[in-house]
Amino acid sequence: MSILSWDDFEDDSKKQTPESKSTPIQPQEASEQKMVPDSQQSKKSTDDSENSGTTTNNRTTHQTDTMARAAESLRNLDVAPGLEELEMGAGRVEVDDKSMINCRADLNQLVPFKYEWAWQKYLDGCANHWMPQEVNMTNDIALWKSEDGLTEDERMIVKRNLGFFSTADSLVANNLVLALYRLITNPECRQYILRQAFEEAIHTHAYQYCVESLSMDEGEIFNMYREIPSVAKKAAWGLKYTQELGDPTFVTGTTETDQTLLRNMIAFYCVLEGIFFYCGFSQILSMGRRNKMGGVAEQFQYILRDESMHVNFGIDMINQIKIENPKLWTTEFQEEVIQMILEGTMLEIEYARDTMPRGVLGMNAAMMEEYLQFICNRRLAQLGLPEQYKGVNNPFQWMSEMMDLRKEKNFFETRVTDYQTGGALSW
Ligand SMILES: [Fe+2]
Ligand SMILES: [Fe+2]
Repeated sequence: MSILSWDDFEDDSKKQTPESKSTPIQPQEASEQKMVPDSQQSKKSTDDSENSGTTTNNRTTHQTDTMARAAESLRNLDVAPGLEELEMGAGRVEVDDKSMINCRADLNQLVPFKYEWAWQKYLDGCANHWMPQEVNMTNDIALWKSEDGLTEDERMIVKRNLGFFSTADSLVANNLVLALYRLITNPECRQYILRQAFEEAIHTHAYQYCVESLSMDEGEIFNMYREIPSVAKKAAWGLKYTQELGDPTFVTGTTETDQTLLRNMIAFYCVLEGIFFYCGFSQILSMGRRNKMGGVAEQFQYILRDESMHVNFGIDMINQIKIENPKLWTTEFQEEVIQMILEGTMLEIEYARDTMPRGVLGMNAAMMEEYLQFICNRRLAQLGLPEQYKGVNNPFQWMSEMMDLRKEKNFFETRVTDYQTGGALSW
């Protein structure tokens, strides 16, 4: 055999036994599984070399024809269409040619940077890389299976949040790649959006990993956004802001369409990722602080770290678009944005009441309501808009510590949370 095949490389998924497929592998077990003998691969190589001479001759003739056609196709390649597009940007891109939306400069040239904050967030996001399988779920599995380890209210909190988040992260990812990406006409921002999209995939993976580890009913969890009203309403509210942009014929360039784009960014970055996640984050993290479901809580802590960066990046983009296009930020439009953020807050309060009919984990619905009003004020302030809930305080001060993540130890005592590749972030 002269050509390498995929079988020549380590492929953990193929080497998993049926048992390990149904139970997520712990890191140590995973490394042990790489020791599977290669006898099957050797046999496959032998089989490959037993082709008859006729077949080989036919294949050689066929390959020669294909190569001739490939060379001919390249000789006829017309480079003009591509060059025309580059010439619109007048050759090499200068910083002043760049803009957030409706930019005509060549988007294939990453540098020179105009928005250093976007590039920095891309670097920070990469430095925060983590994978769900790295979190030890052993104690969670034992607690979830035990008869009296958790109250019914605590079990509902875990299920509802896995149900809501598993769909919400898919909605966010789909909005990024199918609606937003092509309309943001700046390469350094696109670079971060690509990183963000991968992080959303990791988040969806994390929920699936929790569901699988705890042997939950997949159908129940992944259909909650259609079956549980307080979850469904949040998903439906987000979806209506993606539809217009998701139409492949939608383009920006007028006040009306540019405002439609801004509306989508405010709905997804400020409300979905900026408000809709915060009841669930505080519930699950509160559970982890009480030494319950520490693995699930650790997954959510990493997700919260990523999400707080997504929100900040989105708000930076929105504010930059406002600076470059002041005519979009009319009094009328600002009123609309305030209303959107209030609607999101009210939906999240409704979700909090539904997931927390009684006091649990040292929290109750009234405290959660104040916390969400505090978050609402913060999102408005970040957009330069007036706070709507006067005099509210943050009843969960510990959430701020969770978010900036500059602490040395983790709360959950599962393992040292030092996933940073390259050691860029100190815990
Ligand atoms: Fe996410
Ligand atoms: Fe996100």
